[in-house]
Amino acid sequence: QWTTSSIVDEQVERIREQIGDGKAICGLSGGVDSAVAAAMVQRAIGDRLTCVFVDHGLLRAGERTQVERDFVAATGVKLVTVDERERFLEALKGVTDPEQKRKIIGREFIRAFEQAARDLQADGDYDFLVQGTLYPDVVESGGGTGAANIKSHHNVGGLPDDLQFKLVEPLRALFKDEVRRVGTELGLPEVIVQRQPFPGPGLGIRIIGEVTGPRLEILRQADAIAREELTSAGLDRTIWQCPVVLLADVRSVGVQGDGRTYGHPIVLRPVSSEDAMTADWTRLPYEVLERISTRITNEVADVNRVVLDVTSKPPGTIEWE
Ligand code: XMP
Repeated sequence: QWTTSSIVDEQVERIREQIGDGKAICGLSGGVDSAVAAAMVQRAIGDRLTCVFVDHGLLRAGERTQVERDFVAATGVKLVTVDERERFLEALKGVTDPEQKRKIIGREFIRAFEQAARDLQADGDYDFLVQGTLYPDVVESGGGTGAANIKSHHNVGGLPDDLQFKLVEPLRALFKDEVRRVGTELGLPEVIVQRQPFPGPGLGIRIIGEVTGPRLEILRQADAIAREELTSAGLDRTIWQCPVVLLADVRSVGVQGDGRTYGHPIVLRPVSSEDAMTADWTRLPYEVLERISTRITNEVADVNRVVLDVTSKPPGTIEWE
């Protein structure tokens, strides 16, 4: 019979068989999936697992501290943090096509993991790479039976052809709600297990247009405000997630104080969903929308308009790219 603990036992057994007495690296993103995958592999092979947190510069405010604090405190796992901000920004220079961005980010992640494995060489050979790939990631990247490639998730369709690692993907058959139950079974705390999804390519696929340092800064500030207001309104468990998107190549005229502005719009994309395969736009209270809009336009330079995305999935996807 299907139970959460039987999934854990079965996967732990499989991981032990696959890895043998080898060593594995697991990329942590701060999200639920990679945290649960890491906890599962840790249960299977103990301290032959090293987690790597890649700061790719496409993170939201506070993300890095969260991983360093919550996840390590909960699991006692070995964690290495690498600063790859320049590598990613350089690779994304001039790129505007969404699929190209995803592939570049997927490739650079792998390059960063390879570098981390080389840096850990004294400790032994890290031949395995753990990823928190879920069933929907596989389907939407075109890996499921008969599915079209909707977008290449960074850890599936975005992998380079010359991948040196053997992949360990214990969540590949699961949906998000199942992953959350597995995480709880593995003893992970609520703050990790109930986190809203955040895509591996991060803010890189929430800037519509070229990704640059100053644009990332604008988006990071707007996103932090939206999250703060949604949390203080007690809406974190009502919404599935709320991407905040910067339309970097669009400008509109506004007026602020006694002057004309010519700034960018920020899009709020609050969605409700069961498994991210389909979604509905969340009817947020007007007062909350108003507070977010007022604060973003007042506090974030170069943003003079906040708009609300009222499209379900389908026909929209959750992320804009
Ligand atoms: P879409 O935009 O396809 O998103 O409706 C479905 C869910 O997947 C997340 N997402 C990703 N997660 N790597 C990830 O780890 C990716 O490349 C990626 N693309 C989208 C998205 O945030 C939503 O929860």
